[in-house]
Amino acid sequence: MRNVCIAGNWKMNMTPSEGAAFAKALAEAVKDATVRVVVAPPFVTIASVVEAVDGSVIEVGAQNMSDQLSGAYTGEVSAPMLKETGVSIVILGHSERRALYGETDAFINRKVKLALEQDLDVILCVGETLEEREAGKLEEVLKRQVVEGLRDISAQSMARIIVAYEPVWAIGTGKTATPDDANSAHAFIRSEIDKLYGKSVAESLIIQYGGSVKPSNVKDLMAMEHIDGALVGGASLSVEQFAPIVRYNV
Ligand code: PGA
Repeated sequence: MRNVCIAGNWKMNMTPSEGAAFAKALAEAVKDATVRVVVAPPFVTIASVVEAVDGSVIEVGAQNMSDQLSGAYTGEVSAPMLKETGVSIVILGHSERRALYGETDAFINRKVKLALEQDLDVILCVGETLEEREAGKLEEVLKRQVVEGLRDISAQSMARIIVAYEPVWAIGTGKTATPDDANSAHAFIRSEIDKLYGKSVAESLIIQYGGSVKPSNVKDLMAMEHIDGALVGGASLSVEQFAPIVRYNV
C-alpha cells in the first residue's frame, strides 16, 4: 500500500486572518484523518496558518518558490525563508505557473533541486493541455515534464517527491478526467519513473490527481490503483468541501 497525500492549493485566496480562521476550522474537521494533509496558502498567509494548525494533523506547504537561494531577485521568496516559516513541502511547476508566468521544465527543475537541498518535500505538477491531448501528445508531454522536471534527482531523493497529474483542461473547469483516464495517465507516469529509477521507487511514488476534485468524485478517483491522493484547488477553500475529500476513507 502506498501512502496517500491530499493537498489544498489555495492559489491567490485568503488573507492572513482569513487563512488562520479557516485553518483552525479545517483542523478540527479533519482531526481523525488518516492521510497526509497539506494546505498551501499564499506566501504572506503562511505564518498565520502555521500558527493556527500547530498541534494538528495539517502540514503547511507553499505554492511556489524562487530558483535562487538569496540575493537581488525582487519579488521572490526563497526556500530557506519558507523553511524557517514552517513550510515542509512546496508545489512546483503548477500549470498556472507554466502557462501564465512562462515557467519552463529547466526552470522548474532548478527549483526542485533547490527545494530538496533545503530539506523541503516537493509536489511536482505535470499535465497536458486540451490541444496536446487532442493532438495525441499526452504521453510525450507527460514524459518530457517528468524527465526534465526530475533531471539530476537521485533515487534516494525521490522519497521526498510527490508527482501531481493535473490535466490543464480539468483545472477549475468543473470537468474531471474520468477515473479510468486519470488512472492510465498515472500508470504511464509510474512506468516512466520505473524506467528512470526502477521498480521500488516507482511503486512507492505518491501520484496525486488534480483537476476539479470534489467530495462527489474523490472516492471513485481514490479507488483507482495508481491514484494516491489529490491536489485540490477550488474545493480546498471550503471546509464543507475539503474535509470530506480529506476524510474520503474515514
Ligand atoms: P481545481 O484546481 O481543483 O480548482 O480544479 C486544482 C489545481 O489547480 O491544483
